[in-house]
Amino acid sequence: MTIEMQPTVNLKAAIEQRRAARSFLADPIPEAVLEEVFRLSLRAPSGYNLQPWRFVAVREQENKDKLQACAFNQRQVGEAPVVLICCGDRRVQEKDYIESVIQLGKEQGAVNQDYANHMRSAIPQLFENKTSFEALEAWTNRHTMLAVAHLMIVAQSFGVDTCPMEGFASAQVKEAFNIPAEVDVCCLLAMGYAAEPFKQYGGRFAIDQVFSAESFGESFKL
Ligand SMILES: Cc1cc2nc3c(=O)[nH]c(=O)nc-3n(C[C@H](O)[C@H](O)[C@H](O)COP(=O)(O)O)c2cc1C
Repeated sequence: MTIEMQPTVNLKAAIEQRRAARSFLADPIPEAVLEEVFRLSLRAPSGYNLQPWRFVAVREQENKDKLQACAFNQRQVGEAPVVLICCGDRRVQEKDYIESVIQLGKEQGAVNQDYANHMRSAIPQLFENKTSFEALEAWTNRHTMLAVAHLMIVAQSFGVDTCPMEGFASAQVKEAFNIPAEVDVCCLLAMGYAAEPFKQYGGRFAIDQVFSAESFGESFKL
């Protein structure tokens, strides 16, 4: 009998409790929890279901130390039991890869022959025309960060704290962790159990400061 892992924190509480943890206990994350967090985070949406995110899970202390050196010596990188190097893979535009997404959809019964043919012509056009982005890196980053956002909230719902980080030297991380040229590092994500109280909550702008009604800048009222 398999026992299904259930989150311990409800969605609203997980969102409100999630904070960027700057220090972590050495306590490991149970493998079953990690597996469920990863599995659920991969339910993030992506254009044509291309799923361009890739993650390198760094757990060995020696490698965390190496990563910390590429991340302006941020202590959470060396301390957290797991640090993800969250990447976007620009090779998803390659023909073989598109075929693998089509195959996946066929296995699920979600892609028929007509839709497969549509994907074979529309996806290369998307990357050629770039009507909604300027560089492919922006497109892969758009998707990878969505998956990271999913991952952070899911982790919190299982009581696992996280810290997303852009404080790293990309070229150094790529070199040290054998990341191919066509793969970009979008962020690092430390995961584990916070060792110290979080910094004072910095607040968020109000809904009417960031939402507009119908046209940019037009006052929004509910
Ligand atoms: C893309 C991204 C990059 C960040 N980079 C760092 C970082 O390098 N180091 C760090 O300590 N915090 C980093 N943060 C955490 C932010 O400082 C933090 O999310 C923000 O101050 C709001 O605080 P909260 O997440 O605790 O609500 C980053 C957050 C994001 C989303």
